[in-house]
Amino acid sequence: MSKVIIPSLAGLLLAATAMAADVTYRKDIRPLWEARCSACHGAASPYLGDFLEHPRTFMQQMQGPRMDTYADLIFFVGWPDTGAIMRRLDDGKNSKDGKPGNMYLFLGATDEERQTNFKVFKAWVGEDAWNHKRWDARGDMPGVTKEELSKIKVKY
Ligand code: HEC
Repeated sequence: MSKVIIPSLAGLLLAATAMAADVTYRKDIRPLWEARCSACHGAASPYLGDFLEHPRTFMQQMQGPRMDTYADLIFFVGWPDTGAIMRRLDDGKNSKDGKPGNMYLFLGATDEERQTNFKVFKAWVGEDAWNHKRWDARGDMPGVTKEELSKIKVKY
């Protein structure tokens, strides 16, 4: 009997691993981004460099920096705006002050929806890569390490 059970459990584990590894930009993130982020981060929004020159003006127009392609989105995960996605979308459960990032709210209309979509983003970036570090150290937070960066998945 155990001979039958063991292989099938192994199969289940493999299936679960494949599912977790399978979050992609095209299949999961793009539709989510279109529904929840595109209104303020779409093609009409300024690139971060332009945004930072007139942040107040853009914020009054409800425009955040542009992230409307795969390349423009991973800019806010790995480099140069290292960890921005992780800091802004975090649900706050693992941070010192317990506060969610200020974009977490936009992940959904209900707590449940926000948690579901948060998990999708986190799986996409990589569970082990989800930290709040910037490229350079700031305050008591050290800068990101190459080892940490190498855990980023962001599958296309
Ligand atoms: C209602 C408009 C609006 C929506 C919807 C919105 N954002 Fe934003 N976002 C902004 C504005 C404005 C800023 C710039 C002000 C700030 O930094 O808080 C910003 C900033 C950001 C930043 C920081 C960029 C930087 O300067 O480093 C990230 C990352 C981000 N948003 C991600 C998202 C994601 C992902 C979603 C969808 C889940 C989203 N936002 C939904 C308006 C929005």
